[in-house]
Amino acid sequence: MDMLMVKSLNKTYEGKVKTQALSEINLAIKKGEFVGIMGPSGSGKTTLLNMVSTIDAPSSGEVIIGGTNPYQLKASQLAAFRRRQLGFVFQDFNLLDTLTVAENIVLPLTLDKQSLKLMDAKLKTLAQRLGIQEILNKRTYEISGGQKQRAAIARAMITSPSLLLADEPTGALDSNSSRIVMEMLEAINRSDETTMLLVSHDPVAASYCHRVVFIRDGRLDHEIRRGESRQEFFHRIMDSLAITGRESS
Ligand SMILES: Nc1ncnc2c1ncn2[C@@H]1O[C@H](COP(=O)(O)OP(=O)(O)OP(=O)(O)O)[C@@H](O)[C@H]1O
Ligand SMILES: [Mg+2]
Repeated sequence: MDMLMVKSLNKTYEGKVKTQALSEINLAIKKGEFVGIMGPSGSGKTTLLNMVSTIDAPSSGEVIIGGTNPYQLKASQLAAFRRRQLGFVFQDFNLLDTLTVAENIVLPLTLDKQSLKLMDAKLKTLAQRLGIQEILNKRTYEISGGQKQRAAIARAMITSPSLLLADEPTGALDSNSSRIVMEMLEAINRSDETTMLLVSHDPVAASYCHRVVFIRDGRLDHEIRRGESRQEFFHRIMDSLAITGRESS
């Protein structure tokens, strides 16, 4: 079954200068797949993620998540759909610094009016899986970038979303913290069969994916699939980047 289907997606940003950010994007992602999106700066990666996460509407084309077209839902249904089906992880963590780590993690459940007992059980399980039990009572300015991102992943996972969307989750991390974060995403993907869509400039991070799709000038360029070895996949990603164009940003 396809968890995500993107059909003939186009996005034009209107304005003084029109920008066709995406052209005829078709993409199908199966339940449990871990897919990376790479491409030069300005190629449309974040735009694609924003169309999937319903942050911004496509100019034409369709997005179907688990059989539902979120753009056909009423505003109230859409809010619940996003909260229950989608998880978000961003480069800059988006944690609230007035709350503790624990309060940040359970926030999506607080919004869904879940019982305290259930929230606490989910919090404990996730904190243990992500190795952040010791910092649950700390504020965000008292913890490292890697710990912040693990807290943000816990927050994204606490509703057990069917689709996790991550835009440059390792962009602000050093290589060691990046590796830990990617290993944890990989472990969650394996154990929970959470479908994941990851945008990254980092070939090491992308090498954790099952498949990497390359975008160029708003169009799908080509895709490559991982075999047995992550190391070997990393080298093929590097080769693809050399063709599609490396980042300047
Ligand atoms: N809100 C917006 N209004 C107008 N143009 C936009 C908007 N957001 C993005 N664009 C333009 O759309 C194109 C694609 O941008 P997008 O942010 O999707 O690229 P990206 O691949 O995520 O780049 P990066 O790797 O730098 O994050 C760019 O030309 C960008 O300038
Ligand atoms: Mg971007």
